[in-house]
Amino acid sequence: MSATTWLIVPAAGQGKRMGAALPKQYLTLTGAPILAITLARLHAALPHARLVLCLDEQDRWFDPAWVPFTRWQRVSGGAERMDSVLNALQAIDAAGDDVVLVHDVARPCVSVEDLCALEQAAKQYAGGALLAMPVADTMKRESRDGTSARTESRDGLWHALTPQGFRYALLCQALGHARKHETLVTDEASAVEALGHRPKLVSGRRDNLKVTHPDDLALAAAILAAQREQSRT
Ligand code: C5P
Repeated sequence: MSATTWLIVPAAGQGKRMGAALPKQYLTLTGAPILAITLARLHAALPHARLVLCLDEQDRWFDPAWVPFTRWQRVSGGAERMDSVLNALQAIDAAGDDVVLVHDVARPCVSVEDLCALEQAAKQYAGGALLAMPVADTMKRESRDGTSARTESRDGLWHALTPQGFRYALLCQALGHARKHETLVTDEASAVEALGHRPKLVSGRRDNLKVTHPDDLALAAAILAAQREQSRT
């Protein structure tokens, strides 16, 4: 029997940096809430996956009609992103070698091709895999007074994106270890690296933007419109 693919989507954040009246995953882009767009993308690439959606217990905006997956469940979010993901891991009845992909709800522009490539890599590499892109800009180290102290080499530096995918047993072990040692990790790969594993960097598209700040909204809308146009040609 082949391993099941699980898809954890942490969507319990408040999106405070956005400064909006509602959490950013419910802001509208090209006529639909970000959460609905992200789930539609994930479903287009991974219709066979079992979805676990992490939502805040007080969430007043979620509509189950936005979920295109047939097999899905809702779990409560935690205080931090990693707590939300841990809640999801604890709630599912997965086998140790099942593959778990974790994707931030705030990345609605992820492409179907990248999602499929990442699922394959997560199955192939023992240490798991993450979408990532090489750093293009010159990198500066800030000094305490907000001036540039020096230029850091960008050789071998990558931006970590999502999804990131690992075998269920490894991800449980890694996030469990991070919690035990009170290490706050902002992605799954850093928890896995802390155990000595080396997740595969899968080069992803540069337009897999995480909507974080208000000016990201117009950018994400333009990316979605351009992608739609490309898929028509
Ligand atoms: O705030 P940021 O964009 O870094 O959050 C990354 C992802 O983690 C988002 O999809 C957000 O909804 C989710 N999150 C969560 N639980 C939290 C904090 C963030 O599911 N407590």
